[in-house]
This record gives sequence, C-alpha cells and structure tokens, in this order.
Amino acid sequence: MRPAHPPADTPETRPAWHFTPRAHWMNDPNGLIFHRGTWHLFFQHHPHGRTWGPMHWGHATSGDLLRWQEQPIALAPDHLGMVFSGSAVLDSGNRSGLGPAGSQPLVMMFTHHDMADEQAGRIDRQHQSLAFSLDGGATWTTHAGNPVMPNPGVQDWRDPKLRWLPQRQCWTMALACGDHIRFYSSPDLKRWTEDSRFGGAGVGAHGGVWECPDLIPLTAPDGRTHWVLLVSLTPGGPNGGSATQYFIGDFDDRTFTPHDTRTRWLDFGPDNYAGVTWAEVDDRALFIGWMSNWQYADKVPTAPWRSAMTMPRELQLRTAPDGLRVASVPAREVATLCQPATLARQGVALGDAALDLSAALAGTQGRFVLQLSTAALRGFTLTLGNAAGDVLRIGFDATAGCWWIDRNASGDVGFHPVFAQRATAARLATAAKSDLQLWFDATSVELFADDGLSVMTALFFPRQPWNRATLASDDGLMLDTLELRPLRDSR
Ligand code: FRU
Repeated sequence: MRPAHPPADTPETRPAWHFTPRAHWMNDPNGLIFHRGTWHLFFQHHPHGRTWGPMHWGHATSGDLLRWQEQPIALAPDHLGMVFSGSAVLDSGNRSGLGPAGSQPLVMMFTHHDMADEQAGRIDRQHQSLAFSLDGGATWTTHAGNPVMPNPGVQDWRDPKLRWLPQRQCWTMALACGDHIRFYSSPDLKRWTEDSRFGGAGVGAHGGVWECPDLIPLTAPDGRTHWVLLVSLTPGGPNGGSATQYFIGDFDDRTFTPHDTRTRWLDFGPDNYAGVTWAEVDDRALFIGWMSNWQYADKVPTAPWRSAMTMPRELQLRTAPDGLRVASVPAREVATLCQPATLARQGVALGDAALDLSAALAGTQGRFVLQLSTAALRGFTLTLGNAAGDVLRIGFDATAGCWWIDRNASGDVGFHPVFAQRATAARLATAAKSDLQLWFDATSVELFADDGLSVMTALFFPRQPWNRATLASDDGLMLDTLELRPLRDSR
C-alpha cells in the first residue's frame, strides 16, 4: 500500500486536463480576467511549500481555458502583509490614473493580510490594496498608495470582487465581512464608499465565515435579468466543510435584494470552493473553483504540488420545479477534449446483471453520458475500480431523491478522518427523463445531473489507475443513451 503521505512525486495523481501548479500549494482562483485573447488565472499560492503559508498570487495563462502555461509569480507579500484573494478589471479609461494618460491598465484589487498584526491579536489586520499591469498582465506593480481601504475594525474583511456598472459609471465591489457581504462603489478604484450590506443571521447558510463573493447578472429563460450573488463558506457545506452557496435577486447598482433568503448550493460535492467568474467576458458567466476542501486540503496525497482547479464551467439560470436555480455546465471549450466514443449504446434496459464496461475504459480520464428514464427507476450504481480493490461508486437513489458519490473505498482515504464519505446532492428536477454527465480525470470526478441543476465535485486517490467499470441497476434502469469517451490530455 502506498503511504498516506508520499515522500516523492506522485505523477499518477496529476490531473491531465485540470489546472495544477507545477509545484507547491494552491488555493482560491484570483483575478480571473480575459484580455486580448488570453485567459488569465491567478491563484492563492505558497511557492515554498505544500501547505498554506505566506500567500502570493501565482499566475497561469491559456488561449483555450484548457492548456495552461504557468507564469512568474504576479504578487508577493510585502511590508503590508500577505496577498489574499481578490479580482482584476480592465480600467479602459485609466480612471484610476495608475497608467500614463491614454493607457488602459489592468488593475487587481486584493486583500493584504498582516500576519504580525494577527499574531499581536489585532483585529484590524486586513486591508484592501491595488496592483496594476501596463503590459497586458505579464508584470504587476503594487500601488504606492496602498492600502486604498484601511481596515474599519472588522476582523474578516476580504476578497474584493469588482464589477463595472455602466449606468452609474463606477465600479462596485462585493467584499466578505464575517457573516455578511458589503457593497462599496468607486469612480476610480481608489476612493470607496459603502453602499449597502447583505447577509447576517437567518440569511442563507452560515458556519465559519463568508468568503469570496461574486455578483453576476444572469438572464433567465424568460429573458429577464436577475443578479446572482455567490458566497463561499467554510465550514458549513452540505457534505461537510467548504462549499459555495448563492442567492438570486435584484441589484439596483447599490443594494442587493434577494428574492428569498433560502440556502441554495452551487455544487453539493465536497471539492469546489471559493469559485468566482472571469471578468471581461461578454456573453457568458464563466466560473472556476478550487477543487479541494479546507477540511483536508493540506493532507491530500499529491506531490510536488497540492490542489487543482475545477474544470471551467458556465453558470446559467434555469427554471426548476421550485423556482429559479443556477445550473453549472461544462464550458463549451471543455467538449474539445472529447475523443471518439469507446462505448455508445442506445435503448439499454438493465436487468439484474451488471453491465461490464471495463473494455471501454481507456486511460484515467473520460466522460460518461447517461440519458435515462426515471419513471420506474429505484436507483443505479456506476462503479470505477482497479485490481487493488479500490472502488469509486456514483449513483442515484430515487427514494432519497438524490445523486451520490461514495469514495469510502476509493483508495487512499486515510490521510484525513473525514475524507472517507458518501456525499449526496438533491435531485432538483422532477421530469421523467434525466441526464448525467460524469467527467473524471485521474483523481477527480465532476457530476452534472439534469442539465447542471445538481452538481457534485469530488476528489479520490485510487492506489492504481481505474481499469474496471460496471453499471448496475437497483431496479428499472432504462437508458436512452450510454456513452463513454476518453478525454485528451491538455498538459
Ligand atoms: C478562501 C480564503 C479567502 C482568503 C484566502 C487566503 O479560501 O480563506 O477568504 O482570502 O483563502 O488564502
């Protein structure tokens, strides 16, 4: 058996098409921006170790959201502290004055966290600061006037997410403040005024603190635009630890007014946290999350790096039986990874015998698509396995009304007590037909059910690559389509 904490490189745990840093620790995606044909992905990074430490902003770029080139570190800790999460915008009118007249600087806003102040027990240790780039994002300079927002006496006050408001001709910022979000506005990214607050007890889910907000306009099927506020929280997720909830409402350029204050989860799985959307993308809300969970992120058995991002996803508003919901679907770019099907069957009615799909498994990354009828379905289990006896089980339980992922026996689960678990996601659709996409990549699976209404992301660490697959029905599994496609390696 492999030791729980491998001392050497673990190439077999390296995802083939999800972003991972070459080496060392990564957490939240930061500063997501599309600029001059390049996707920028910055990330919380500790470049000297595989656990959280002095936070830098790592940087990677891509032309297609799939093949990433790691770039030099964009931001490093300075005299004001570590560099926590934040966002980036294009200041096309140079309203910030951070560039020379006529220039169009890229501007980042992030949280400075002063460790010395934290150790001294000061609560006013987080401040908001700026950095800018005049070469399209290749190099970054911190603003001499930092911090532009000194701490007002709030212990957790971080993760600014910026958005330009064309009607008001100013930027708005969503900022996490313990148990709520504050909205601020500014004409120049330097002078900020508080506009409103949203959250607190009784509003959505609480656990630890709220983090990494994002406010996004999305158009509903009836053509109306609503505003969606993403809020990550840890702990307090539906399957333990870290998760992202959202609220749907209106935003009048100053105040976010939710339609209601119920808790809704963007992704029910244990491993999608702190996700936000790209700036400067006109037609889509493109999202990426950190594919881990604060409960065990610093113990996962990968080396020399720790953590991957989720696949890029598009967020869409859908009308579900209980009202509007945010669905997540793979960004259309991801489909280009698909290779010709190794399994393509139509009209399969499953009896007592499980279907052996092993011959169709080619490599450690792939995509299953199941289109099924739920009318008479009690449930089913899709199992990925290997010769070492590890199994990852994924399925549907009609009685409980949920999709589930069981990684209890999926290989190396002993590195943290809560990792061995069976996670569930409510089925939100009620139609008699359902569809399921399962994308797997060496050590992760992303499940999109009912056209992205129920989503789960989960890590696993088999001791050997998967080379077995079976599909078994509890009763009544009728498949219109059963398909498996291998996926390209995008490294
Ligand atoms: C979320 C978070 C942020 C913070 C960053 C620090 O995972 O806690 O709130 O800015 O990570 O690395």
